[in-house]
Amino acid sequence: MTDHPAPLVAVIVVAAGSGSRLGHSEPKAFVPLAGRTLLERALLTVFGMREPAQVIVVAPENRLEAARVIAGAVAGPLGDRVDVIAGGPSRQDSVNRGLAVLRPGVQTVLVHDAARALTPSALCDAVVDAVRATGNGIVPGLAVVDTIKRVDDGGTILGTVDRSELSAVQTPQGFPRDVLVAAAAAATGEATDDAAVVASAGHPVNVIPGDALAFKITTPWDLRRAESLLSAGSATAETAGLTADRGPRVGTGLDVHAFDDSSALWIAGLHWPGERGLSGHSDGDAAVHAVCDALLAAAGLGDLGGVFGTSDPAFAQAHGDVFLRETLRRVTEAGFRVGNVTVQIIGNRPKLAPRRAEAEALLGSLLGAPVSVSATTTDALGFTGRGEGIAALATAILFPVLAVRPVLSWEA
Ligand code: CTP
Ligand code: MG
Repeated sequence: MTDHPAPLVAVIVVAAGSGSRLGHSEPKAFVPLAGRTLLERALLTVFGMREPAQVIVVAPENRLEAARVIAGAVAGPLGDRVDVIAGGPSRQDSVNRGLAVLRPGVQTVLVHDAARALTPSALCDAVVDAVRATGNGIVPGLAVVDTIKRVDDGGTILGTVDRSELSAVQTPQGFPRDVLVAAAAAATGEATDDAAVVASAGHPVNVIPGDALAFKITTPWDLRRAESLLSAGSATAETAGLTADRGPRVGTGLDVHAFDDSSALWIAGLHWPGERGLSGHSDGDAAVHAVCDALLAAAGLGDLGGVFGTSDPAFAQAHGDVFLRETLRRVTEAGFRVGNVTVQIIGNRPKLAPRRAEAEALLGSLLGAPVSVSATTTDALGFTGRGEGIAALATAILFPVLAVRPVLSWEA
């Protein structure tokens, strides 16, 4: 039996369109893009979100089985959070069918076009945060860069639209559940997005900064642009996360320092007055060093010695926060976020229990993720049992994040 808490967020992934402007034999969501369908890529974005969500896939009636297979493969053990349902004749019908299967605990609903297949997960997280902070509808939007003209049927220019008032809006669009459900029920006429439905019900909708990668694949040219962004030759630091293996990554780290009576003890980021210190170029904090090694290993970034050097004067006497901040910066830059970290301190002293919560809070706040700290002795055996030093063993899990920055090489 799985025992996941009921999600507070739902994402309706609308994928029931035919893609007439793309002109492919398959419905658009089932068209391959660099080896994965648009639907699979859109779901990878959704499953990369910080918070677990109910995921509602709205697919063409005659592609439900294919959609289930794709969703099942992306969801893996989280398959119980996914619902696959048939869409309707218009996008709005498809959204409404998704709204009908929202689970009871859901408070915030995002609606996302499968056609925006390269959308970063961080954009979804930002929309959820903004809905919660404001209670309003939230849509990501980008400033319009072209000069926009109003023209008549004959092609004669009637005037220039004030560009500063315009925003090209994207998805995911997010809303408080009750607001979207009520607005959808009251809607008359067709709208091309959910913001229009909610705004016409009189509820405020705000724009937050969108992301260039959230562009909609509509025409064959858009598909080629997406393909070239994903091709190895054009991968940049900004798009590297899109091509990375999307599974979670685990790493382990081990560190040992000998006791040194002339040093103060720093372990798990804390100073321990009255305890024997540890030798080392930095402050000898074996627990923090093991955590950094585990994080670097999980990200495939080498190890502590390779990254920081073992004799760099910049790190002489440095405390754990210096190493943790820099390690986190590198791991984030490589396109990952930290899931959680555990570290076990192996030695006779210090007694951890009285300060465990303090250590966990400090390390957790430095990494922005849960950190568990535990300790054990080795039954008087080995160097730790003889009281010669302290060892620490850490495990870290990282989750890949889609490209975090919207800067793309082709925009130059
Ligand atoms: N969509 C849907 N149900 C519909 C129509 C559209 O779920 N009846 C979804 C599409 O699958 C797409 C998103 O809404 O992910 C945005 O629509 P659009 O880009 O217009 O896709 P299509 O309608 O498939 O394309 P076209 O308009 O070119 O036929
Ligand atoms: Mg359409």
